[in-house]
Amino acid sequence: MARPVGSVTRGTTGVNRLRRADRWLSAVHGRLLRAADRPLVVDLGYGASHSTTLELFTRLRAVAGDVEMVGIEIDPARVALARPYEREGLSFVLGGFELPVPRPPTVVRAFNVLRQYGEAEAWGYWDLLRGKLAPGGVLVEGTCSETGHRAVWVCLDSAGPRTLTFSARFNAFDRPSELADRLPKTLIHRNVPGEPIHAFLRDFDRAWAVAAPYGAHGLRQRWLAAVETLADGWPLYRTAPLGGAGRWRLGELSLPWSAVAPTS
Ligand SMILES: C[S@@+](CC[C@H](N)C(=O)[O-])C[C@H]1O[C@@H](n2cnc3c(N)ncnc32)[C@H](O)[C@@H]1O
Repeated sequence: MARPVGSVTRGTTGVNRLRRADRWLSAVHGRLLRAADRPLVVDLGYGASHSTTLELFTRLRAVAGDVEMVGIEIDPARVALARPYEREGLSFVLGGFELPVPRPPTVVRAFNVLRQYGEAEAWGYWDLLRGKLAPGGVLVEGTCSETGHRAVWVCLDSAGPRTLTFSARFNAFDRPSELADRLPKTLIHRNVPGEPIHAFLRDFDRAWAVAAPYGAHGLRQRWLAAVETLADGWPLYRTAPLGGAGRWRLGELSLPWSAVAPTS
């Protein structure tokens, strides 16, 4: 077997820490998985424990009963640790960005993996991975805090990045711009004046401040009011599956990647 593409990095993970992204994937891309013939999902870089892969598998099986999942890790010791947890439909293999799987995946989830690479490498691996997707498939690439209370992810299809999603527990931040520390590698260095992502987070903070009185009814009401204000100036998704009150009330919001893409 050729050497896996990529490098072994820290294996930090945690039980249930990717639940926000799992919930989003089930709701937004459940239909894609149900429509696919023998849908394959890859969890790339699952880390020091199999747990987040098993959690995603269990959640996706609830919305698409024939999903098969492969957890891929570049560290052989982590593959050996996960193997005892294999079961029908779920396996763990050694590999990297080349994705050693039997057929093109409908979904690739890579969380807290690319942040450990350089920015130029992250763009390159986005291109590599989206080129391996099944027709209509998606790559969900993101980052979250240790506990998963703050998370940001990008969804890409074969043509490129499509959407950016922020998701946070309401008491996990004082100002929404604190989520900047979870931006994907391709955006985190662009959070500077003159870049769209910086303007977006600035406006989000302003909307949050204006919505302060709604805090009397709880932080969820404040979030909903802030998102409505923000939607006046930014093209937030306002209808299901990506937007609207049903998603916003979870502490989530999504907008087109094109609205926040780096200027150069
Ligand atoms: C911080 S852990 C993330 C674990 C889990 N995805 C999570 O978010 O909780 C990153 C893992 O990605 C693995 N990794 C890094 N580059 C990889 C690659 N190219 N292919 C497969 N795994 C990779 C590392 O070895 C490490 O175990």
